[in-house]
Amino acid sequence: MEPLGVIGAGWVGLVTAACFADLGHEVVVRDVVPERVADLEDGRVPIYEPGLAELLAANRERIRYTLDMADVFERARMAFICVDTPPTHSGDADLSRVWRVVEELPDVGERIVLIMKSTVPVGTGALVRERLDRAGLAHIGYVSNPEFLAEGSGLEDFRSPDRVVVGAFTDEDGDAVAALYGFTEAPILRSDVASAEMVKMASNAFLATRISFINEIANVCEVTGADVEAVARGVGLDHRLGPHFLRAGIGYGGSCFPKDTSALKQLAANSGYHFQLLTAVIEVNELQKRRVVGKLVKHLGSLRGKTVALLGLAFKPNTNDMREAPSLVLASRLMAEGASVRGWDPVALEEARAMLPSVEVTESLHDAIKGADAAVIVTEWKELQALLSPEARGLMRKPLLVDGRNLLDPAEARAAGFVYESIGRAAHDLDALPETEEPETQLRQ
Ligand code: UDX
Repeated sequence: MEPLGVIGAGWVGLVTAACFADLGHEVVVRDVVPERVADLEDGRVPIYEPGLAELLAANRERIRYTLDMADVFERARMAFICVDTPPTHSGDADLSRVWRVVEELPDVGERIVLIMKSTVPVGTGALVRERLDRAGLAHIGYVSNPEFLAEGSGLEDFRSPDRVVVGAFTDEDGDAVAALYGFTEAPILRSDVASAEMVKMASNAFLATRISFINEIANVCEVTGADVEAVARGVGLDHRLGPHFLRAGIGYGGSCFPKDTSALKQLAANSGYHFQLLTAVIEVNELQKRRVVGKLVKHLGSLRGKTVALLGLAFKPNTNDMREAPSLVLASRLMAEGASVRGWDPVALEEARAMLPSVEVTESLHDAIKGADAAVIVTEWKELQALLSPEARGLMRKPLLVDGRNLLDPAEARAAGFVYESIGRAAHDLDALPETEEPETQLRQ
């Protein structure tokens, strides 16, 4: 089987490396961070992704880690570029890591093919092609092969993709990359490079649009008495619309949607086009996170001196990724309102402590809610079902629960003694917020 290179040992790179190694390919993974390479060599995986550490370990004899670009091309003639492309201050994507890869390429004197997995603005492939040609490296091929993996289900998404997109400058390079995906029955879309790049950006923008759309429907449900869960089910049953990405909540976060929507908006703006719809999608998402504050104020009045527990700090369940997590905005907003903020997450404790230094990140769910005036479900971790217990209810000073992900059943939450608010579903009566007596008072009685 074709030996492969993977450049960038981040989440995409490691999932790609593990899965291709599992298919039988020999894989050399290159990263620029010495500690990361050392960790991986010692079997420590610096990323939380279900099944990834096990898959890397199981294929240990086929995967090698290195700091040296020359090692990548010692045997491999095809290499996936999986470096990150974070947003710059202007909202454009920062391509400096991509350029560094191009600059460091060794000339092995044979045809090699670079396969771009990182999400890059449309036109990046053309720029890379131009640079390679100018540097006398016309024999280095370039193919756009965007990834559509979602965190938390990365391995499954790799093995059973909806489609594989291969955009190439030459048929020969496109054929070689398409052949790597012989393991799947999924359709392989062959296109030019710019269109492949746009498929990725448009897909993420469309998914983000669906989320902002259902969130606005949820907001209108709240003022009209409809229930967004029932509405989303009804809408999703239309085969032209489908049921996916219609979960109302406090908005999308993560390493892709915020960055990619902003990059596409900026890409259009740079060419003089104002992408009106996408601008609204982004704004709705920003406002959605802040609506939680209004729900807390509705029941608590001023938040000055109140303690609020944020539950689920990573941007979604089954990951420790805190990038663009709604918890970050929410924590800052609540502190600006004068509240003390506690936080808990089943896996992202270390990451949360680094990113939220003013938040008291606790070791357990119970420690986070003890004596709190309100708890907010920020991420739909199933562990948070444990809130529905008399014990949890009894720990809180005020039993106010704002469910930002519609995780719990409203009737069950109310039966458990909570004043329960969620997104786009019937709100709780205003006058129903009792106060739990202080433990000392309870003891004296
Ligand atoms: C996403 C895309 O799904 C993936 O194809 C792309 O390659 C990278 O971006 P990811 O960011 O890992 O993947 O997570 P995803 O599960 O898609 O969720 C993104 C965000 O949207 C999360 O914050 C999630 O909570 C939110 N979301 C998702 C909703 O609020 N409602 C939904 O219905 C779905």
